[in-house]
Amino acid sequence: MKVLIVGSGGREHTLAWKIHQSPHLTQLYCAPGNPGTAQLGDNIPIAASDLEGLLEFSQQNQIDLTIVGPEAPLVNGIVDRYEAVGLKVAGPSQNAAQLEGSKVFAKDFMQRHKIPTAHYQTYSSTSAAELALCRGEYKFPLVVKADGLAAGKGVLICQNLTESLDAVSLIMEKREFGKAGDRVVIEEFLEGEELSFMVFTDGTRILPMVPSQDHKTIYEEDMGPNTGGMGAYSVDWILDQKIRRQVMKEIIEATIQGMASDGHPFAGVLYAGLMLTSDGPKVLEFNVRFGDPETQVILTRLNSD
Ligand code: AMP
Ligand code: GLY
Repeated sequence: MKVLIVGSGGREHTLAWKIHQSPHLTQLYCAPGNPGTAQLGDNIPIAASDLEGLLEFSQQNQIDLTIVGPEAPLVNGIVDRYEAVGLKVAGPSQNAAQLEGSKVFAKDFMQRHKIPTAHYQTYSSTSAAELALCRGEYKFPLVVKADGLAAGKGVLICQNLTESLDAVSLIMEKREFGKAGDRVVIEEFLEGEELSFMVFTDGTRILPMVPSQDHKTIYEEDMGPNTGGMGAYSVDWILDQKIRRQVMKEIIEATIQGMASDGHPFAGVLYAGLMLTSDGPKVLEFNVRFGDPETQVILTRLNSD
């Protein structure tokens, strides 16, 4: 098989490392790749955002399978475009990718399907969000989130009214995250142990991966603002069997079934960012792809290809 990996991070290096071990592989490409992937296959100078260029390369080189690392091409519809010309690609459709592309979509979906998550409200104007905050509709700390993609930085944990008003202003007025700030979600702060749980799915069947945790904050000792992840580890005891079964049933299966019944069947890697609260596991966020840096510690534990 000729395989193309889209992306340029540590996650894509790990995907390349894992796929390189498969007896099915005949040729490996990475677009645009990095010095790590260059040791395992051919780096192609096409950006992960260049959907047209990727499609043309895949058609010309008769790529058998394309695996998409980052979220932006998925949210921008790379899978639909590949499938329209009969090319195989691992990842969700543009509609299904809204689970990550819009926090408002994800929260409304979870509420509709009774999937456990933090209580929330969404706002499409600054004044409505400010009014709710000033009226005391929330307890502190609370969490303010930009609706759209913000590279893991669009979530602000606020300790008091001033911080929460600043967060709304940063997202909706100052447009720190651009169009991602057209709407905000304000939600309850959840306490507990956080972990990442990923599964492979074709929209019906589900194969869970091992759990992992990433180091969220930018500085040592859990200090500083959150990032997309500064490092990760994976050990089994972070998720006991009872909670794991609960996560599979109430969160993962409910999500796959819910997406199918809503007319957006989800295929690819589903990543649930979970908080293990005293009230059971709850979803902090969905990602529609392999986590980075979680993939680096999970695929190294996977025996098969
Ligand atoms: P998200 O992109 O929604 O996962 O948020 C990024 C990070 O912010 C998460 O990984 C958590 O560490 C934190 N976070 C998000 N939502 C909440 C919440 N409701 N309560 C506590 N922490 C949260
Ligand atoms: N490490 C979090 C993420 O991949 O979004």
